[in-house]
Amino acid sequence: MESWSENVEFERIGPIARAVKAGLINPLVNHLIPADWLKAALRFAKSELAESNWRDPGGWRSMVISYNGQCGQVADQLLVRAGSIPLALRNRRRLGARVIARLIDSAGHEPVHVLCLGAGPGRIVIDAMSQARSLSEATLVDLNNDAFDYGRRIAEEAGVGDRVRYIQGDVRDVRRMLDKPPDVVKMLGICEYLSDEQIVSIAEAVAEVMPTGKAIVFNSICKAHGTDDFLRRVFGLNMVHRSPRHLRRLLGGAGFGEFVSVPEPSGVYHVVVGRRV
Ligand SMILES: C[S@@+](CC[C@H](N)C(=O)[O-])C[C@H]1O[C@@H](n2cnc3c(N)ncnc32)[C@H](O)[C@@H]1O
Repeated sequence: MESWSENVEFERIGPIARAVKAGLINPLVNHLIPADWLKAALRFAKSELAESNWRDPGGWRSMVISYNGQCGQVADQLLVRAGSIPLALRNRRRLGARVIARLIDSAGHEPVHVLCLGAGPGRIVIDAMSQARSLSEATLVDLNNDAFDYGRRIAEEAGVGDRVRYIQGDVRDVRRMLDKPPDVVKMLGICEYLSDEQIVSIAEAVAEVMPTGKAIVFNSICKAHGTDDFLRRVFGLNMVHRSPRHLRRLLGGAGFGEFVSVPEPSGVYHVVVGRRV
């Protein structure tokens, strides 16, 4: 069988760039330069990535800036093109979209219903829907509705505008939001902002509305990016790092199994596929 990541065009950094980051840049930004100096420099340089994180740490706008990789400000070009997390995010976007497109194509009926939790504008699901050969439709849920107009626009541009619907709500109330059972549940980009208890409560709620054999897609994050201290003290971003094994145990207790973990090449994220058992 074709591997989940086959033909995905990943970004990679070479050994010299990796050594410079690990030996010089990461120690500087993690510990040696005071956080106030770094914040002042980013403010002076009008960094949109820093601004969006200060306003909403880890929110959807900073994802969009990292995904697009095209920035107006020099500071952002550096952060987004050379930063370990933005690069890993772009790899996760491509891998997640490929995995979900394959799940759509293997569902065996149409339209395939994708439920996206903590969707933001839904970039990854929109990519997957336009890559898949089978017809799909998506329900995209987020606490905040401020990403929905942008989401509708990118869905239109991708040719799937009439097949997405956005719902504002807490994903823990997912039972009340569904009029039809999902074939694929996507939880990429949300677990790292939640506690173990919250993840279990969401997984239990989702398991209740999912038929046996249907797929859930989520991601782990590990500290291989080497910038956790920088992200905490400068961006105010407190992500919970968990191994694929830890997440499989949490979701396993909520009714999921048959997990497959697929790493992106920087080793920061694994995309994990599980099944309702
Ligand atoms: C980091 S963004 C990720 C967006 C998108 N999943 C992606 O990977 O590009 C996390 C999103 O989860 C949403 N979120 C966090 N907790 C939530 C909850 N309990 N219910 C619904 N949405 C939530 C936030 O509003 C935010 O838009």
